[in-house]
Amino acid sequence: MDYVTLALAKGRTAESTIELLNNAGIDFPDFHTKSRKLVFYNTDQTVKLIFVKAVDVPTYVEKGAADIGVVGKDNILESQADIYEILDLKLGRCQFVVAGKPETTLESTQKLTIASKYPTVAKSHFQQKGIPIETIKLNGSVELAPLIGLADIIVDIVETGTTINENGLKIIDEIEDISTRLIVNKASFTTKSALIHELINKLKSVME
Ligand code: PRP
Repeated sequence: MDYVTLALAKGRTAESTIELLNNAGIDFPDFHTKSRKLVFYNTDQTVKLIFVKAVDVPTYVEKGAADIGVVGKDNILESQADIYEILDLKLGRCQFVVAGKPETTLESTQKLTIASKYPTVAKSHFQQKGIPIETIKLNGSVELAPLIGLADIIVDIVETGTTINENGLKIIDEIEDISTRLIVNKASFTTKSALIHELINKLKSVME
């Protein structure tokens, strides 16, 4: 039997995505976020789920190792992967922001240094604003960078605002809203059209 391979991002929205899939009648009886297994099948074996790091989901889908992916818009934008973004699953809503110490402004005569897990997003945002910047790529705990003088500001995602607040930073600029999206490999969209559309329609019907 034919199946679609779905790359699911590990992390905050994995469980709510599985719940959404379950509600849509696509259930993965063996799935558990704490399991060390990386491959799961749904009951009727029409979906093979691979559980991968969020940052890698766009790559799996672009290269065709997965037909579809479920991942945050943040990782889609940063990857610049050549994929179709089909559906906003409206999970994991947060925001891309520029943040820094309370006294920091963007009106600097000197080139600003920005620390971020998303240097591509940061570059593109400041290029549009005509502000020259230099980026430092970090892989986590980004809020630390302005505090210890590694960077002037950060570009990061804010969900509850707790991390920014607890580290005495403030939001300087809002870039864009983020949420979990369903993405599709361009070739699979044609070759596995029926299976992919069936899955999309099931998801759409439970989201309404
Ligand atoms: C993310 C993000 C912020 C934080 C925002 O980090 O990079 O640091 O969550 O969430 P909040 O507004 O609800 O506090 P993550 O938890 O993925 O950890 P990391 O620092 O290791 O990247």
